[in-house]
Amino acid sequence: MPAIVAPSPDHIQTAADGLRDGHVVAVPTETVYGLGADAANDRAVASVYRLKDRPSFNPLILHFLSMDQMTSWVHLTPLAYRLGGYFWPGPLTLVLDLIKPRFNLALGGLQTAAVRIPSHPVIRDVLKAFGGPIAAPSANKSERLSPTTAQHVLKCFAGADQPSMILDGGPCRHGLESTILDARGAVPILLRLGSLSIETVQTVCPTIKVPEDFANPSAIQSPGQMRRHYAPRIPLRLDAHWVAPHEALLAFGPGPHPVGSFCTRNLSERGDVTEGASNLFAFLHDLEESGARGIAVTPIPGVGLGAAILDRLRRGALSTP
Ligand code: TXA
Ligand code: MG
Repeated sequence: MPAIVAPSPDHIQTAADGLRDGHVVAVPTETVYGLGADAANDRAVASVYRLKDRPSFNPLILHFLSMDQMTSWVHLTPLAYRLGGYFWPGPLTLVLDLIKPRFNLALGGLQTAAVRIPSHPVIRDVLKAFGGPIAAPSANKSERLSPTTAQHVLKCFAGADQPSMILDGGPCRHGLESTILDARGAVPILLRLGSLSIETVQTVCPTIKVPEDFANPSAIQSPGQMRRHYAPRIPLRLDAHWVAPHEALLAFGPGPHPVGSFCTRNLSERGDVTEGASNLFAFLHDLEESGARGIAVTPIPGVGLGAAILDRLRRGALSTP
């Protein structure tokens, strides 16, 4: 079993040394836990793909400490400086052109890279001690629920190949992956809904291009992005107004809600979508473990981070058996 360890200075140093030696280290970020590897080490990145059972044409996000550090990898457009200036460090990922051709495995054969500057102090300490970019997808098996605690990471890799260590940074503050925007042009293009709401991005860039089929959960926006994604091991049923005897309930808001015989979790009793987003994966992990054979989900408003919650649930509903 990999050890779950506290992020003490010694363990941060061990994590950085491990990255330098080509090991895979699970690290907390403010969005979800990541499975980190040296972005420039193809052997280490290959281990990440193997651990996740992820196709190697699906590129990874590169995590940097600063925009300065990014400039040797990507071309920062005026739009990237503007968005990065407002939202970094934080839950935003930008897709940008590489400054020169590179064929690192982490890039999935593309001549663009998805980059972000995380705000979580633990990954920042590891980035400082390591000194280069860390490629990190979410620390779960491909298509499964994302991990928002160190225990979720452990559960995901129980009995399988494992990361060499899991740094415990507590529960992730946002609990949903970063928002991904293509920032190569003058107007951002939405590639993935995430922890930074579109409404918040619009306070800085009022115009965001949304691909035509974006609302269709079967559509693939990012190269290699899988339609099947974010799925618990039991079926999800959305917009439910009743609960079947075999189902657990994922509720939202003050209710009244139907009562089931299995476990119930309420994403936000007071109907706050931001609180709901931060609880989503943790509660789905709980309900998956409850013994129920399905999960009924009450209606959730699609405003603010509600849109990102619904995106994850719709993809999850498509993917489950
Ligand atoms: O919050 C997050 O973003 C977390 C934490 C660990 O930082 N990471 C994460 O990584 O969610 P992952 O690998 O689960 O999702 C990365 C997404 C994938 O859908 C991938 O296709 C897309 O980013 N992506 C990566 N490089 C890309 C590129 N050059 N162009 C378009 N999409 C890209
Ligand atoms: Mg993921």
